[in-house]
Amino acid sequence: KETVLSGIRATGNLHLGNYFGALSKFVRMQRDYDCLYFVADLHALTTNPDPEQLHRNVRSIVAEYLAAGLDPEESTLFVQSDVPEISEMYLLLNMHVGIGELMRTASFKDKARKQLGIKVDEDDENIERQIIGSDSNKRVNAGLLTYPTLMAVDILIQKAHKVPVGKDQEQHLELTRRFARRFNSFYGVELFPEPTNFDFGGKPVKVPGLDGSGKMGKSEGNCIYLIDDEKTLRKKVMRAVTDEGPKTPGQPVSPTVENLFTLLELTSTPEVVKHFRDAYADCSIRYGDLKKQLADDILAITLPIRERILDLQSDDATIGRVLRRGAEIARERASRTLAEVREVMGIRRFY
Ligand code: TYM
Repeated sequence: KETVLSGIRATGNLHLGNYFGALSKFVRMQRDYDCLYFVADLHALTTNPDPEQLHRNVRSIVAEYLAAGLDPEESTLFVQSDVPEISEMYLLLNMHVGIGELMRTASFKDKARKQLGIKVDEDDENIERQIIGSDSNKRVNAGLLTYPTLMAVDILIQKAHKVPVGKDQEQHLELTRRFARRFNSFYGVELFPEPTNFDFGGKPVKVPGLDGSGKMGKSEGNCIYLIDDEKTLRKKVMRAVTDEGPKTPGQPVSPTVENLFTLLELTSTPEVVKHFRDAYADCSIRYGDLKKQLADDILAITLPIRERILDLQSDDATIGRVLRRGAEIARERASRTLAEVREVMGIRRFY
């Protein structure tokens, strides 16, 4: 069986972007692959979270993993920091990673831009100058820069073949492949497979926000959470941004309304989607009906998960048991890879 590995940062509750981009795929891949799924708590540190909150977030993500259908008998579930081999290999791999390629990563530039309050249209050279010149209060930390190294290590240390992630993570995967190739060829070994993304529909999804923005994201503040109760969720959907409606038959769908269709395609049946697409085409659509349908279809997915999250969230005994077992398996595998990496790099013992 091929190895599957993926993770989610411990930065808050999971939303529909995380669910359709990642978690729902994790669940569907369980049977056919050798799966490892983890909570990326070290990656969460790049934004200097409150320690108590970070700890709570790790617990809630594990609860959400289990509630969404990850089965600890079938998949290995663990916390990143429970595998210290990852941190050691992160140091080793960094010796083969260029500062330039890290600085050019889109996610780094985005985060650095936000951190320093740089405008979106600023050109790259200016961004780089501002990062280097930034004072110590408004610094862009080195962990943020080396984020892709750590992510590559998560993947490579388990020798994963498939990494189910959303579209926004594809550049990180591309870097992972590059680092794997570079390492293999530098030492003349075939240690790491080159991992690829995976999606059942073929192409990876980008779940849009309901505010007309292209992406649902925690920092965007436009999320529908798995833990949202019915009232909150309906309110969010009914408030989704639309337009004035089609004026002439066959008119192209505006980007904001297309977002609603994208969500409907993820949550509903092809017949329902066709019904509303046809209604749009002949100008008979009522956005209120579309939103009500969308809310119903989302709730059909999220409400059962929500119930289970609420049960699991306070069940530290179950969570502890799952994570202890997961850490053992993940460490065992990671330590084998780390031993190989140390050996080929010449980090060897004399005793
Ligand atoms: P994170 O925590 O930002 O997001 C977790 C997963 O959710 C997906 N996602 C989305 N997919 C589609 N549409 C959206 N609007 C949307 N928002 C989030 C992300 O693509 C991701 O799959 N760097 C990773 C965590 C990580 C990781 C790894 C993943 C660390 N090490 C090793 C895979 C393998 C991240 O920040 O994901």
